[in-house]
Amino acid sequence: MTRSLTLTRPDDFHLHLRDGAMLAGVAPETARHFARAIIMPNLVPPVVTGAQADSYRQRIMAALPGAAFTPLMTLYLTEASDPADIVAAHRAGMIAAVKLYPAGATTNSDSGVRRFDAVRPTLEAMAEAGVPLCVHGEVTDPEIDIFDREAVFIDRVLDPIRRATPGLRVIMEHVTTADAVAYVQAAASDLAATITTHHLIINRNHILAGGIRPHYYCLPVAKREIHRRALVHAALSGDARFFLGTDSAPHADPAKESACGCAGCFTATNTMPILAELFEREGALDRLEPFVAHHGADFYGLPRNPGRLTLMRQAEPVRFPARIETGAGPVTVFDPGFAVHWRVSEPV
Ligand code: DOR
Ligand code: ZN
Repeated sequence: MTRSLTLTRPDDFHLHLRDGAMLAGVAPETARHFARAIIMPNLVPPVVTGAQADSYRQRIMAALPGAAFTPLMTLYLTEASDPADIVAAHRAGMIAAVKLYPAGATTNSDSGVRRFDAVRPTLEAMAEAGVPLCVHGEVTDPEIDIFDREAVFIDRVLDPIRRATPGLRVIMEHVTTADAVAYVQAAASDLAATITTHHLIINRNHILAGGIRPHYYCLPVAKREIHRRALVHAALSGDARFFLGTDSAPHADPAKESACGCAGCFTATNTMPILAELFEREGALDRLEPFVAHHGADFYGLPRNPGRLTLMRQAEPVRFPARIETGAGPVTVFDPGFAVHWRVSEPV
């Protein structure tokens, strides 16, 4: 049996770090294991301009003194976004991508896009300049059942955008359905998808059967087991269009354990051990490195990391903290619901 596994140092291609005291509390959890992360711009107010992204990047670096970690910044797409500012920020290396939130789809998405035609000139400028678009793929139409919102988004929004904007490189974020997996598999190499840690592990029963479990609630919400299996299959397949984006999204516990709880699972602390356990169970430990360290960098046109990360297999289950304390309150760490025998070997 494998006792240790050394990988190219991984990247997280979808991460929420927040700001202020929460940023200070959660950023080290990611920087401990990951070399880089795509940083979501859904702050309040959102990160819209290149200048705002640069100042947020500096706050992230200030929260991580001495860490060898590179935040890859994104801009929040609004109907008033300035295409010239986006292209200039990308050219200057200040941003790696732009994020599209349909207005009202999720946490702090009110400034997102309502009329997709309004952002067409921006998307065209991005296609021309090679700026990738990260997409939260859910419709917000209240008539559409929440479990169908991703599949409907593909037909109503994503496919029309991609047809209207040839050359636009798109990352469908946190895919949760067999429909999205099939759509990505059928597309050309200008489309990729991130998969979260938690969507590889939980289905909708985990959220709702035997009591409501707020720490398993996120958006897009986890779907049926058949969809989870499709995600696992995609992650293990070696298809370079699928890669890790944890969507680790911290909320202080009172905001989750509430009559109207926030969406988000906090997985930064134990993602790598959990994924090692999952890939090992699936008999595919050799597929972990490409999924967490190769495919995403290749799609974004970034060099693969020179550093390494070593995971050690333990005879006994490893205990992770149930929660971390931050200046913004306690944040519960994702519980995969099964024993994890891997830990990251920390440099001495
Ligand atoms: O569960 C989620 N939490 N999904 C998102 O799209 C946003 C995120 C957050 O910012 O809390
Ligand atoms: Zn997210």
